[in-house]
Amino acid sequence: MATGTEPRPDESSGGVRARPRAAIAAPHLRTDRWWLAPAVTAAGLFAFVVYSTWRAFSNAHYYAAPYVSPFYSPCLAENCRTMHAGPNAGLLGGWWGLSPALIILIFPLGFRLTCYYYRKAYYRAFWASPPACAVAEPHRTYTGETRFPLVLQNLHRYFFYAALLVAGVLTYDTALAFRDPHYRWGHMGLGSLVFLANIVLIWAYTLSCHSCRHIVGGKLKHFSRHPARYRAWQFVGRLNARHMQLAWASLLSVALADFYVYLVASGVFDDPRFF
Ligand code: FES
Repeated sequence: MATGTEPRPDESSGGVRARPRAAIAAPHLRTDRWWLAPAVTAAGLFAFVVYSTWRAFSNAHYYAAPYVSPFYSPCLAENCRTMHAGPNAGLLGGWWGLSPALIILIFPLGFRLTCYYYRKAYYRAFWASPPACAVAEPHRTYTGETRFPLVLQNLHRYFFYAALLVAGVLTYDTALAFRDPHYRWGHMGLGSLVFLANIVLIWAYTLSCHSCRHIVGGKLKHFSRHPARYRAWQFVGRLNARHMQLAWASLLSVALADFYVYLVASGVFDDPRFF
């Protein structure tokens, strides 16, 4: 009679089937469509990776006055110097022959790649580690994030500081989106609203970060002695409860803002202007 303690073929591996796991022959006992969420996540992230790679390498159609694509901001390219009034325009000079987006995107992509939510999303969607709750992963061993390269996920808090700078730059770009192509204030086109929606979502996602929550309210013994930090922690905590939704909404909005600039810059249509 089975006692549940018999050695199993792979129990020495230390993987998910090792003791003291119950000896269940079936891969899992879930009967719902548990595969749907990781499949949709994989499709969404893959679509973004394909789109952003194409745009990052295209090195074209990233400026349509007064809008600069968030993938190419701050506008470091030499040819931005004449097109864009930003303080960093042309900072790279002529020595960098590749697309400037390849430098700029390191920071927002590093922020998202190391994000606690995105880690869960792509660990499940692409590595099946595990694919869903109560569904065993196929890997025989588990080392977590204690070794290279996944130990680098601990850089997230530093990417958070970089993300604050990126959000600041995009806020500046959004302000410039309310000038007309002749640098006069008072312009509002459809692109201005696209940029406004994007920057609101970018800030909401950035401030909802778990690292931000810890920075704002962590290491305190008594909230009563720090009322300002308590209020800030409550605000960040409310955003943090929506972190997954904000992660997707801001990913979509930043891609849409870039695509809008691409359409206008490539002459597909003119930016509808309200005033
Ligand atoms: Fe997601 Fe920090 S945990 S951005």
